[in-house]
Amino acid sequence: MSTQLEKLTAHGAEYRDPVAAIDWDREDDDLPWLPPEMLSLSADDLGVPERSKLIQRLSQAEFSRLCAAGIWLEGLLISRLSAKGFLELPAEETRIMLQEIREETGHSLMFLTMIERAGLQKTRLLGPTRLLTWVAQRLNPDHAAFWAMVYIGETVTDTYARLCLKRAQDEGQGISPVASDVLSLHHKDEARHIAAARALLASRIDKMGLIERFVFSRTLKFLLRGFLKATLYPTAESLERAGIPRSKEMAAHAARCPRRAELARQCAVPALTLLGRTAELARFSVADIRP
Ligand SMILES: [Fe+2]
Ligand SMILES: [Fe+2]
Repeated sequence: MSTQLEKLTAHGAEYRDPVAAIDWDREDDDLPWLPPEMLSLSADDLGVPERSKLIQRLSQAEFSRLCAAGIWLEGLLISRLSAKGFLELPAEETRIMLQEIREETGHSLMFLTMIERAGLQKTRLLGPTRLLTWVAQRLNPDHAAFWAMVYIGETVTDTYARLCLKRAQDEGQGISPVASDVLSLHHKDEARHIAAARALLASRIDKMGLIERFVFSRTLKFLLRGFLKATLYPTAESLERAGIPRSKEMAAHAARCPRRAELARQCAVPALTLLGRTAELARFSVADIRP
């Protein structure tokens, strides 16, 4: 494993601060921040044309939710990794964790800028997070469950971002260049983080006994369902701040939408594929992930 971690740290050696790397002037006020098909409500749901101000505002709110999910997950990762200091860890693990802390801090600063640009600071953008935060604060980076949580959080949000970039490219539906740059920069770093989480999970999972594995599989199911609910569905408050009429009704509509549930399932595929083998998550159903 150490060779793999060493390779990953070599790729992350040249750090660039995301806030400095993004050209913040590359904004296009006429373009949405995410492809309209990737939003939780369609133009039909809102009774407006696809190229309308309302869809654009909705795309900014949904992009901001993705940013808020990043800030939340990255904050949890940083706090858990740094809680004990790094004195007892092998050098290759210390190096990878310090690189992640450096990069996640840069990502969160970049995400914060996007939320401010959307004018959505001080808005509750995510679904329920309190219980997930409580669980995450008790997971230990020395154990497999912690890295499984990291893997779930990073793959769910990264899969959604990747699908957005692919749709924007494939179908020639332009999205704001700044939004596209933020997603691309993040995706590039996340690919390394996800590979590291996978390697660190693999190195810890063999040490688990039967009871631990049972608790592990239940914890993962809970975490995956919670992450999907919290990060892929809009809050009524965020819709209201974006100017969407009948915001409560519309948030409930998105929560019931089968198209959205299918997207949530797609975002869960990497976590289900990797973790299903060890944690019996294969029978996880789409109905489980609606808020
Ligand atoms: Fe990140
Ligand atoms: Fe990450």
